[in-house]
Amino acid sequence: MNATSNVAPVITADNDALTLDFPLKPFAIRHKLAGHPLLTLPRIAQLAAELPRDRIEYNSGDAAISQDPDKVKSVDLDPVEVVKRIESAGAWMVLKRIDESPEYRALLEDTLLSVARARGFKSLNDAGFSQVEGFLFVSSPNSTTPFHMDAEDNFFVQIHGDKTFAIFDNRDGFIANEEQVEYSTVKHRNVPYNDSFKPRGVEFHLVGGDGCYVPYQWPHWVKTAGTHSISMAITWKTAEVRRLNDLHRFNSLLRSAGFAQAAPGVHPAWDAAKLATYRGIAAFIEPLRKSETMRRVIRRIALGKNANYYLKKA
Ligand SMILES: [Fe+2]
Repeated sequence: MNATSNVAPVITADNDALTLDFPLKPFAIRHKLAGHPLLTLPRIAQLAAELPRDRIEYNSGDAAISQDPDKVKSVDLDPVEVVKRIESAGAWMVLKRIDESPEYRALLEDTLLSVARARGFKSLNDAGFSQVEGFLFVSSPNSTTPFHMDAEDNFFVQIHGDKTFAIFDNRDGFIANEEQVEYSTVKHRNVPYNDSFKPRGVEFHLVGGDGCYVPYQWPHWVKTAGTHSISMAITWKTAEVRRLNDLHRFNSLLRSAGFAQAAPGVHPAWDAAKLATYRGIAAFIEPLRKSETMRRVIRRIALGKNANYYLKKA
């Protein structure tokens, strides 16, 4: 952590939402990251050239809110060209794990540290902001990010362009049941959408300088308006989120082997035994993930033959 960094508030929210609503439900935020040199198209094109290929996912922005991931249209450009031509490429792109670049990591940590301080904590760890990761999104005008959920908490910051970000309450499992949540956590994030979910949603209309807090596993869809868009997800995983994610991963492996599993929380003692076993295996595998080739192999073994779906579209 960059303990000596400037901690003037980078993210703010109205009505004490950072204290009262966080981390339980979504709320609007404002931020000071629009115009930051690391978040301009030329710098993002440079980042796209530097990142390992499996850290970049892109496809046509012409997607449905309820999108079958096997039927997503591709874009016939290389990643750097997609960024350079984003105003007309008809594309949606995410650059993953930008936290592995030291400059971007400092930006992510400084931003979260300002939130930690605003909430009365001295450090990221004290505030529960562990496993900090960043994801940059560039998308063409009129692009849709299909309905999906993410296995982490997220401050989503809009840097450039107009965007509608709709977030839905699934705390009772009405939108996605436990098995779907496991599938989304482990295999593919997309969740089927239908209009009966509408009353459970809240829409945030974002321009540069706006953003929203997206709680763990709250499904959402996103649409850009008539301009290209640059956004960033600043994510972290609390100890409880890491525990749930690891249980979902192990349950998914056991389910694939023919052993149906109860959701986390149904049998706490059994959860603890599964967690210890899974983490023992994961600690052995983790060093292998430094290699892109091994990451592909591990994804293939753990997730099945479609695991590297987004790499076929290059
Ligand atoms: Fe998301």
